[in-house]
Amino acid sequence: MQELYLVKKEIKDTYSYDMINTITSRIKTPQSILNKMKKKNYELNYKNLVQNINDIAGIRITCPFKSDIFTIKEIIEQMEDIRIIEEKDYISNPKLSGYSAYHLIVEVPIDFKNKEIYIKCEIQIRTMAMDFWATAEHKMRYKSKNKISWFDSKKLSWYAKIINLLDTKLSSLYAKQEGNIS
Ligand code: GTP
Ligand code: MG
Repeated sequence: MQELYLVKKEIKDTYSYDMINTITSRIKTPQSILNKMKKKNYELNYKNLVQNINDIAGIRITCPFKSDIFTIKEIIEQMEDIRIIEEKDYISNPKLSGYSAYHLIVEVPIDFKNKEIYIKCEIQIRTMAMDFWATAEHKMRYKSKNKISWFDSKKLSWYAKIINLLDTKLSSLYAKQEGNIS
C-alpha cells in the first residue's frame, strides 16, 4: 500500500501529470469471506481459503484515462517484490454486466512475526468513469438485496457501453493533444 503511493509519486514525476487519482484499500470482513466461500460452495477450511479466495485484501486504483490503466499495470508488473498470480483484462473484454476494469491478483510480502510471508491481494485498476458506473451498479444490482427487473438490468449494461465509449473518446482526445498519436 505504502509502496503504491511511491508509485503514484514516481509516475507523477516521470509523466509530469498525476496518473493516479485515488488509491483505496479494504480488508474483507470474516463474515464476507464466509459468505463468499458458501456462495462458491467451497468447504470451509483453511486450504480452500488460501487457494480460492484471492481478494481478502483489495486495492482499487482510479485514473483519468483508459490508456493510463495499462501504464499503471505495467509499472506494478515491474515492481520487484510483487508476484503476479493472475491478470483479468475486463477492459478488452468487459463482463456481460458491462463491468470494465483491469484486475491483477498478486502476492505481496508482509512482515509477520519477524518473518516475511506473502499474502494475496486483488488490485483493480479503473478509470474514474468505470468506477462511477461500478459503484452505482454495485448498489443496484451486483451486491444488491433488491431484485432488479430484466429491463432495468439491460439499461445498466447499456449505460456501461455509453461510459465505455466516452472513456475511449476522452482517452484518444488526450492522446491527440499530447501528440502521442496523429
Ligand atoms: P467475486 O466473486 O465477486 O469476487 O467475482 P470473481 O471471483 O469471479 O472475480 P471477478 O474478477 O469477476 O470480480 C472481482 C471483483 O470485481 C468483485 O468483487 C467486484 O469488486 C468487481 N466486479 C466484478 N464484476 C462486477 C460487476 O459486474 N459489477 C461491479 N459493480 N463490480 C464487479
Ligand atoms: Mg470479490
